[in-house]
Amino acid sequence: MSDIMINYDRFLSKAALKSQGSAIRKMGVMAVRVPDMISFAPGYPDPAAYAWDEFREITARLLDGHQGSVLQYGPTRGHKPLIEACMEILEGRGIRAAFEELMITTGSQQGIELVGKVLLDPGDVVLVELPAYTGAISAFRNLGASLAGVRQEADGIDLEDLDRVVSRERAAGRAVRFLYVVPNFQNPTGLLLSLAKRKALLEYASRADLLIVEDDPYGALYFDDTATAADTRPMKADDTEGRVIYLSSFSKTLAPGFRVAWLAAPEPLVSKLELFKQTEDLMSPALDQHVICEAHRRGVLMGRLPMLRRFYQEKRTVMQDALRAKLGDLVSWPEPKGGFFLWATLPDQVDCDAMLVRAVDQRVIYVAGSAFYVDGTGHNRMRLSFSLPSHEKIVEGVARLTAVVQAELSRPTAPAVHA
Ligand SMILES: Cc1ncc(COP(=O)(O)O)c(C=O)c1O
Repeated sequence: MSDIMINYDRFLSKAALKSQGSAIRKMGVMAVRVPDMISFAPGYPDPAAYAWDEFREITARLLDGHQGSVLQYGPTRGHKPLIEACMEILEGRGIRAAFEELMITTGSQQGIELVGKVLLDPGDVVLVELPAYTGAISAFRNLGASLAGVRQEADGIDLEDLDRVVSRERAAGRAVRFLYVVPNFQNPTGLLLSLAKRKALLEYASRADLLIVEDDPYGALYFDDTATAADTRPMKADDTEGRVIYLSSFSKTLAPGFRVAWLAAPEPLVSKLELFKQTEDLMSPALDQHVICEAHRRGVLMGRLPMLRRFYQEKRTVMQDALRAKLGDLVSWPEPKGGFFLWATLPDQVDCDAMLVRAVDQRVIYVAGSAFYVDGTGHNRMRLSFSLPSHEKIVEGVARLTAVVQAELSRPTAPAVHA
C-alpha cells in the first residue's frame, strides 16, 4: 500500500461528500471485533434456522448438471421460473400480479434504491415514518431527496400528520413523490399497520395523487400468539389504481446471503426499473436465483415458515420476559407481533447515542434510535434485535444492558443537548 497523500474530497460528488456510513453497519463491525460482545444491533436472521441441508443438496445438483444458465448472464428482470414462483407467493398474500409486473432484485435494498432512481429528482420529497428503516433513508438521501418525517401511532402512521406534512411540503413548492412504508413489523419499531389504516392510506394516496412504496420483508414472520396472516395483508392486494410498488425479500426467511428479492409494480414502472437495474448489475446473481427457485419448488420456504414463526416468537418472548424482569419499570415498548425488532423507549434523560460507548464497555450493543429519525429526534430510544442471539445470550445481554441503563440513570445529570 502506498502512503495516500491526496485529499479526495475535491474529487467527490456532492452526494458522496454528504454520505455517511450506516450506524447499523458500524455496530456490526464493532460486534465482531470485541470478544464476547452480545449484539442486539443488526437485523440478521439466525443461521441456526437456515435450510443448510437443502441448500447443499440443491446447489450440488445445480452445479452437477453443468447447465449453462446456472452460471450464465440472464435476463435483467430475473430467472423466469423464479418470477413465476414469486407470482405464486404473491397470490398467497392476496396480490394478483402479471408476469410483466414483477422483477427480481439483488436484495430489496436494490429495489428501494432503484425506485428512488426512477421516481426522484434532487430536491423531491419522500415521505417516511418517524422512525423509518435506515437503509431506505440513506438510499433516498444519496439521490438528493428531501425526507419529510410523518409521526407514528400505536397502529402505524398518523394519517392526520401525513396530510399536514404533504400540505406543508406542497405549499413550500416541493414535489412530493411517494410515501415509503413498512406496514408489517416495521424496522425499527416492530409495529403492525392496522387494516383500517391500510385502506385509508390507499384512499389518501388516490386523493393526494401519491405513490406508495410498500416494503414487506417481515410479513410472513407473524407470531401466532398475537397476529394472523390476515393482519399482514399487503396494501398492494387492494391497490385498484396501480399506486403501490410492493417489495419483498427471501432474506429474512431463507437467507440474506443469496441477495434475492423481488418487486411488483405497474408494468410501465417495472420497465423503467429494469433499465436502471441493467446499469447497476445487469442481472441478479444466477446461481442464487436458481437455488431460491428450486428451494421454493421443493416447498422449503412454505414448509419452514411455521417453524420460523415459532423460532422468532420464542426469541421475542425471551427478550420481553428478560426486559420486564430487569428493566420493566424503566423501559417501555410495543409488543412485537412479528419480525425481528423490539423498540425500547427509555426515560427522557437517557441519550442512547452517548450511552452506547458505555454499553460497548459492558459488551452489549444496540442501535441508537436517532439513526432512524429524519428529524433528529429519538435520543431516548433504541432498537433491540432479538433475531440473531441465542436465548442465553438474549438473557445475558439484557442483564448487561440493565447495568448500563442503571449506571446511566445514576450519573450526575449534565444538561442534555439534543438535535
Ligand atoms: C425494512 C427493510 N427493507 C429492506 C431490507 C433489505 O433487505 P434485503 O436483504 O432484501 O436487501 C431490510 C433489511 O434489514 C429491511 O429491514
